[in-house]
Amino acid sequence: MQAKALDVGVGKIRADVVVLTHFEEEPLGPAAAAADEALGGLLSAMLASGEAKARFPERALVPTRGALASPRVMLLGLGPRNLLDGYRLRNALQFAVRDTRAFCRSLAVAVEPALADVLAVPATGQAPQSPARAIAEGVVLGNYHVGELKAAEDKGEIEELQLVGLGSGSDLAAALAAGVRLAEATNATRVLQWRPANRLTPSDFVAEAERVAKARGLALRVMERPEMEKLGMGALLAVAQGSHQPPKLMVLRYRPRGSDGSGRVLALVGKGITFDSGGISLKPNPGMNAMKSDMSGAAAVLQAMAVIAKTEPRIEVLGLAPLTENMPGGGAVKPGDVVRAMNGITVEINNTDAEGRLVLADALAYAVSLGATHLVDVATLTGAVSVALGHPVTAAMGTSADLLNAVRSAALEAGERVWELPMYPEHDVALTCEIADIRNTAGVPAAGTINGAIFLREFVAGRPFVHLDIAASSYHFEPLLNKVVPVGPTGVMTRTLAHLPFHLG
Ligand code: BES
Ligand code: MN
Ligand code: ZN
Repeated sequence: MQAKALDVGVGKIRADVVVLTHFEEEPLGPAAAAADEALGGLLSAMLASGEAKARFPERALVPTRGALASPRVMLLGLGPRNLLDGYRLRNALQFAVRDTRAFCRSLAVAVEPALADVLAVPATGQAPQSPARAIAEGVVLGNYHVGELKAAEDKGEIEELQLVGLGSGSDLAAALAAGVRLAEATNATRVLQWRPANRLTPSDFVAEAERVAKARGLALRVMERPEMEKLGMGALLAVAQGSHQPPKLMVLRYRPRGSDGSGRVLALVGKGITFDSGGISLKPNPGMNAMKSDMSGAAAVLQAMAVIAKTEPRIEVLGLAPLTENMPGGGAVKPGDVVRAMNGITVEINNTDAEGRLVLADALAYAVSLGATHLVDVATLTGAVSVALGHPVTAAMGTSADLLNAVRSAALEAGERVWELPMYPEHDVALTCEIADIRNTAGVPAAGTINGAIFLREFVAGRPFVHLDIAASSYHFEPLLNKVVPVGPTGVMTRTLAHLPFHLG
């Protein structure tokens, strides 16, 4: 998508649709008021009658019949001003684009001063949180569609965004370009998330990684089973042994041209289970197809690395993903089996469906061996996180207040929501084990999400570590929620991870 900033009055905008935003309980902003006047008061009449609403995220499409240079406007309700954050704004724009992309190629957003104020939160990153970037991201995110395998899918997209009302300088152009790049990476994550498991095996995933690495000049190494055996990655190998697909370990490396001399090496580690059947601890039938997306963390890491290669932070960044299926084949690991991870820790696998922490254990230990000084993993780890926080939030647990703060400020810049769960010493006892150093699940439904983090913490050699559980935030199909959060895969944490290297203190 192309995006440009223009300095013209609302009546002169030439686009297939002009989006006019509106806050609840507030008068129309100057742009919407100008359009209303040109339309002879039609917009305010529609609001008065209830035909259009300022509730989040109500859309009313209004033909202009020659009163403006554009053939239609959309009145987009953003709800109460004090409840709008970057996440909600992007979602509202996604809805606006989903409504119009079938018949509109160009879309303009008329930015009201009140909206620009709300979005101008201070951030410490490389590109400041700017309304222009947020809006470009929302529009591009709306272009995502799921039908890559359908012959008759409506492939209509918004091809051009015009941003009106913020001026037109080169800073704005840069912010728009950054937003387009970040959201296109997010959409690429979504495509991978929803690609069926027979078309995205571990081997297919590393082929994608090869394409990205080549296009962006990243170094890529793909580790195969013999080397995993040599390094003693017993936890990753245990998960892989029930599948006919060979496991892979993706290792992407970004090296800065001019390092900041701090010696920091940030490792991003994404869970890459290309299908999670549960293994011998087989999952129940309903909804198992969604487990094709159990590589959402790996996809977010891959696409974040693609952005990082372009934005060029001054520290080294590693992007790792342990990739395998979790299947109940004849050679599968069995509940009660004990394996040894790369760092020497022995694990009793009392539930083969807690496979994500097993593959991440070896990937984290390997990242440490490569010199990672800060580690962040992203994983669809526990169903429990949707009970704890619901779909619009990613859970964060960490061992370092500084690294947690860096993740929070990167997420703020990304328009993604992250909320911390604790790791108190009393949580540790859940994974104590009689016959091995640790077991992989507590076996009781208590603090399930936290137990995942407690487990992973064993494999980071005491380095600053944050675990992000995206099992809930990676996708949703909740009938009630779909009115306020777009259904389907979200590409969550792609943008947060892409910003993160710029936020390390
Ligand atoms: N991939 C699942 C978690 C998941 C559930 C992701 C729902 C997306 C939607 C993970 O491997 C898993 O099975 N976790 C278990 C952990 C339990 C055995 C401790 C779970 O959540 O039941
Ligand atoms: Mn599982
Ligand atoms: Zn899983």
